[in-house]
Amino acid sequence: MLSGALREHLNLPHSCKGGSCGTCRVRVIKGSFAYPHGRPLGITADEESEGHALICQARALEDLEIEIRDIRHVSDVEIKSLPTRIEKMRLFAPDVMGLLLRLPAIESFAWQCGQYVDVMLAGERRRSFSLANPPHDAALLELHVRRAPGGAFSEQVFRTLRAGSLLRIEGPLGQFIYRPGERPLLLVGGGTGYVPLKAMIRQVLETESRRDVTLFWGARTAADLYEDAWLRELAAKHKRFRYTSVLSDQVAAAPHEHGFVHEAVIRKVAGLAGFDIYAAGPPAMIDAVRAALPAQGADPERIYIDSFDYAHA
Ligand SMILES: Cc1cc2nc3c(=O)[nH]c(=O)nc-3n(C[C@H](O)[C@H](O)[C@H](O)COP(=O)(O)OP(=O)(O)OC[C@H]3O[C@@H](n4cnc5c(N)ncnc54)[C@H](O)[C@@H]3O)c2cc1C
Ligand code: FES
Repeated sequence: MLSGALREHLNLPHSCKGGSCGTCRVRVIKGSFAYPHGRPLGITADEESEGHALICQARALEDLEIEIRDIRHVSDVEIKSLPTRIEKMRLFAPDVMGLLLRLPAIESFAWQCGQYVDVMLAGERRRSFSLANPPHDAALLELHVRRAPGGAFSEQVFRTLRAGSLLRIEGPLGQFIYRPGERPLLLVGGGTGYVPLKAMIRQVLETESRRDVTLFWGARTAADLYEDAWLRELAAKHKRFRYTSVLSDQVAAAPHEHGFVHEAVIRKVAGLAGFDIYAAGPPAMIDAVRAALPAQGADPERIYIDSFDYAHA
């Protein structure tokens, strides 16, 4: 159902496209559907019996009437398939490569902070990567690619792609988008889950004058926090930006916190109810945020998530 909607340029809410994050959940009002691969992990039997479905995995068996929440923000963004050229590559960390992509001069490409693009590979495979730059700085698209051992795309990035290589992308995609407002922002990133949050930080600090932003960035070791120094400079420069780094595998000395990133949020942030919370990263981190923060007072309706599931063919 989701791929059909995207083909028609209807950007329905979704994130992982793998049946685990729950972002694409809808309520089916009329009509029947099936899951060709069985009920996905992201929906419980109870939710299913209440009429909910995950449209990234469900296949419609007839015309359906569905209820969707929160699509107004990106419904007018046009999804395009475009050739890009790699302008520059920079090794951020031993397993993270930064790519700057140049779009064709005659093409416009509009997106919203937090969205991602799919890199198109041979055989109709696609891989999702978030945009690290905000739309007001649109000269080049910035991607951060973590190497997945044996990964069809990321191994190419580390082994064969060079400045000048061509990449076809499709986007912008996703409903993990920055919502302007007055409430302070709490951004929680795990690993390269930092990427869409970087776009939001830049958007707020470079184009808005008042909103407070707090970033918690969790990683295994200090070497994985590849923009730590830049973030500390930013925090020194802007009073309304606060940054906490959290290491899970390395015994952490100041300035880093130790443990899982959601635990550090709970330890250090008072009054979670007052924040708009954006969390992006691996599925286990997202599950922990979704379970733990509401239990500490965060408003579940104000938690927006982007689950970095692995690509599916
Ligand atoms: C909305 C969204 C945004 C994303 N944004 C980013 C981003 O900005 N930067 C980024 O680096 N990744 C991001 N990801 C994750 C990225 O799409 C996947 O890691 C992708 O599968 C990597 O493609 P690949 O071809 O290199 O590896 P694949 O060929 O897909 O996978 C090769 C092997 O590695 C495993 N694998 C793949 N990815 C991971 C992973 N992340 N962790 C552990 N094992 C893995 C697979 O299970 C498989 O066995 C995002 C994912 C989503 C859904
Ligand atoms: S469960 Fe469908 S997009 Fe994640």
